[in-house]
Amino acid sequence: MFFDNAAGAQIPEKVLDAINDHLLTRNVQRGGRYRESQEVDATIDRARRTVAVFLNAADPNEIAFGMNATSFIRVISLALGQTLNDRCEIVVSDLDHEANIATWLALEREGAIIRWWKVRDDGQLYVEDLEQLLSSKTRLVACTAASNALGTIVDVAAVAKSAHAVGAEVFLDAVQYAPHALIDVQAWKCDYLVCSGYKIFGPHMGFLWGRHTALSNLPTFREDFIPNTPPLKIEAGTFVYENVAGMTAAIEYLSELGGPVREDEFTTSRRERLVRAMQKIQEYESKLSGALLSGIASIKGAVVYGVRDPKVIRQRGPTLCFNLGDAPPATVTTKLAARRIAVRDGHMYSPRLMKRLGLSPDSGAVRASLVHYNNHEEVVQFLTALEEIACD
Ligand SMILES: Cc1ncc(COP(=O)(O)O)c(C=O)c1O
Repeated sequence: MFFDNAAGAQIPEKVLDAINDHLLTRNVQRGGRYRESQEVDATIDRARRTVAVFLNAADPNEIAFGMNATSFIRVISLALGQTLNDRCEIVVSDLDHEANIATWLALEREGAIIRWWKVRDDGQLYVEDLEQLLSSKTRLVACTAASNALGTIVDVAAVAKSAHAVGAEVFLDAVQYAPHALIDVQAWKCDYLVCSGYKIFGPHMGFLWGRHTALSNLPTFREDFIPNTPPLKIEAGTFVYENVAGMTAAIEYLSELGGPVREDEFTTSRRERLVRAMQKIQEYESKLSGALLSGIASIKGAVVYGVRDPKVIRQRGPTLCFNLGDAPPATVTTKLAARRIAVRDGHMYSPRLMKRLGLSPDSGAVRASLVHYNNHEEVVQFLTALEEIACD
C-alpha cells in the first residue's frame, strides 16, 4: 500500500508510453531541419500549451521546463537577488518546504532582509499576520500553496492581493497543491509558480510559470545568442525532452479523469475538462482525508498536527503528519513497512516547521500522503495497522 505520494506519485501507463515513444522515435536535439528534430520542437510546444492549460496561464511562453522545483526557485532567486534596492525585504514562511526558504535566505548575502511569516498553532498561515510584515520595502512574498508536511492549504489569492497592494511580487510553491486541486494563476494573480512533474503523475522534471512581464524583467543567465525573452531566457541549456513529453501525457491523464467530452459539449475546452477532473479529485480526496483524520485522531495517544477540525477539512489536503504517543516515528514507519505499507518519517524537508511544532527535526513525525488512486479500504487497513502498532 503506497501512502508516500507527497514524496513522489506513481505514473500512469500513458506517461510511460509517451516517454518510450519519444526515446524510441525522436531521441534527437531540437532545432534541426529534419523530421525527428522538428517533432521534438512540436513536442516542446505541445507541452508548453498543455501546461499552460493546467495552470490557466495566458501565454504558453510563460512556461519554462527544467530539472525540478528547487532549481527553478534558485534560478528566480539568483535573478531577483540582482534587482534588490530599497525594496529588499523578502517574506518567507515557516510552513514551507526548505526549497522555498533556503533559496531566499541565500539572498541575505546580496542585502536581502528576511521577514518570517509564522504559522499559527492550528498549522495555518493567516493573511492578517502577513499584512503586518508588508511594506513599501517588500520585494517578494514566497510561500507554499499547500504544505508538504501538514497538508494545510494557503489562501494564495489573498496573499497576492495583499502583496500587490504594497507593490511586492509573489512566488508560489505549488508542488504539493498541484496533485490535489485546480491551479489558476490568472485568478490567483500571483507572479511566479513552480511545480514538480513527479508529484503530479509525471516523470522527474519541474516547470516554472512566471508572468510574462515579470520574467522579461529578470536578469537571468543565458548565452549571448539566446533571446532575452521567456521561456528561453529561463531555461539554461537542454532539458529532458522525453520527460517533457511524459508531462503532457500526465496532464492529459488528469483531464481524462474529468470524464469523456459529452457529445453535446461541442465547446468543451481542455481547461473545462481539467476543471471538472480536479473538482472530482478534490471531492473524492476530501472524503479520504476526513476518514484518515478522524481515524488517526481516535487512536489512543495519537497526535495529528495541523488542521484537525473535520468541519474545515477543505483547508487541508490528504497529507497528514502525526505521531503515536512517544513511539519514535522511525519505529512506526518501520513497523508499517513490515506490513507492506509505505509511509515516511522525519522532518519532510521542513525542519523549521518541525521545531515550530515542538518536534525534533531529527525524528520529526510520520507522514501519510494520499492521492486520487488511493481508496477507502486502504485507509481502513492503514488505521487497523496503526491501532495494532499503538498497542505494541
Ligand atoms: C512543497 C515542496 N516544494 C518543493 C519541493 C522540491 O521539489 P523538487 O524535488 O522538484 O526540487 C518539494 C519536494 O518534495 C515539495 O514538497
